[in-house]
Amino acid sequence: MTNHKKLHVQTWGCQMNVYDSSRMKDVLAPLGYQACDNAADADMVILNTCHIREKAAEKIYSELGRLRKHKDALAKDGRHMVIAVAGCVAQAEGAEVRRRAPWVDMVFGPQAYHQLPDMVREAARGARVVKTDFPPEPKFDALPKSGGQGPAAFLTVQEGCDKFCTFCVVPYTRGAEYSRPSADVIAEARDLVALGAREITLLGQNVNAYHGDAPDGSGQAWSLGRLIEGLTDVEGLARLRYTTSHPLDMDEDLIAAHRDIDILMPYLHLPVQSGSDRILEAMNRRHKVADYRRVVDVLRASRPDIALSCDFIVGFPGETDQDFEDTLALVRDVGYASAYSFKYSPRPGTTAASSDGHVPEPVKAERLAILQDLLTEQATDFNRQSIGAQFDVLIERVGKREGQMLGRSPYNQAVYVDGGVDAGFAIGDLVKVRVKSGYANSVAAEPLNSASDTA
Ligand code: SAH
Ligand code: SF4
Ligand code: F3S
Repeated sequence: MTNHKKLHVQTWGCQMNVYDSSRMKDVLAPLGYQACDNAADADMVILNTCHIREKAAEKIYSELGRLRKHKDALAKDGRHMVIAVAGCVAQAEGAEVRRRAPWVDMVFGPQAYHQLPDMVREAARGARVVKTDFPPEPKFDALPKSGGQGPAAFLTVQEGCDKFCTFCVVPYTRGAEYSRPSADVIAEARDLVALGAREITLLGQNVNAYHGDAPDGSGQAWSLGRLIEGLTDVEGLARLRYTTSHPLDMDEDLIAAHRDIDILMPYLHLPVQSGSDRILEAMNRRHKVADYRRVVDVLRASRPDIALSCDFIVGFPGETDQDFEDTLALVRDVGYASAYSFKYSPRPGTTAASSDGHVPEPVKAERLAILQDLLTEQATDFNRQSIGAQFDVLIERVGKREGQMLGRSPYNQAVYVDGGVDAGFAIGDLVKVRVKSGYANSVAAEPLNSASDTA
């Protein structure tokens, strides 16, 4: 093809943005755009942005400042750089982006990616493009076939959220909850596997609220558990994961899937946000701490080795020392393999932002440090307890050190494996290893490649 153009995509935020970035590349490939690593020399730069906390959103403006310089430098050579802001900041504050960075050519939200070819044509004519409405047609029907993502791929099955937790922008940036038909999901999974995927992570802001049409045209819906069972028919698919789940939507099908389906990995990210009923209520999470504990118990009864991960917010408006102590108590009782924790960040348009009782910044910082110490201790313990364990690692990339390869354990641990090419394995292989050492964020392992090793 003639007329190759260079496309640089930069991604912030959650895994859904990672998936969306790969889909935007798929949409733009037929127009001659090839992905490149260097923003300074690109014909088009897309910033795929995140609005979840203030810090995430503000990063975009400093990045746009840097890009302006590249754009001006290219213009001196007679070249035009198209700068596009996509993702959740575009959706939430598109007009503000245009006001603060008038050198941006295109602003469009997550539901408009299938319209990229038209938008690119408009921008090429010198028009300023802003698309932040929610188009009536589902974008998934209009996206081209996937171009592949490597051994561990993402696949969006559900998008948007109707839960309206009082701190969260997602219902505004991603819109109402929508589930893709299960037949489309299975077809995309087959495509991804044909293009080299061994593991697929099913994505949704509320993935376990999935209720896509059944493939038989009966008009019935499939739950996420049923979809996972359906995906076991995809030949060559060795591993399945899903994220992110809401405790309220952990139904029997899904819990049974963790017991019965061997390609479903023993790992679950199940955010609780707080260990205090008072705060959960103010957050509109619609479940109590006891409900969450019950879900954890049932899951562990179903799949005893399941590794749990979580999200926490500290310093939500009205959070007292006692509320925070309750969160610590929950963490101690459950025991997490890994977790993310954040200081509450007031977001425009959300109910909590305008409520009383905002917690002073130093108190938030102190609570976060205490919680993170505890979570790091638990993660380190989890990884150290793996020492001596044997399991398969899906090799995803080359490590920083000579001969080292990097992959994931069934429990989603990052695993550094010695040996690499010399030991006869490569990216995309499932390699049996034995864990040698454990750290806060990873484990190190050696391959078990002789018959005596695996006995
Ligand atoms: N759908 C997921 C969460 C998506 S957002 C769920 O229901 O749990 C990812 C995480 O960001 C959330 O779990 C929450 O811990 C954090 N988060 C969201 N809004 C936030 C805010 N305003 N301030 C701080 N953290 C926030
Ligand atoms: Fe946000 Fe998750 Fe709550 Fe939906 S369920 S509003 S995505 S935190
Ligand atoms: Fe961020 Fe949007 Fe994901 S706000 S966390 S990129 S859904």
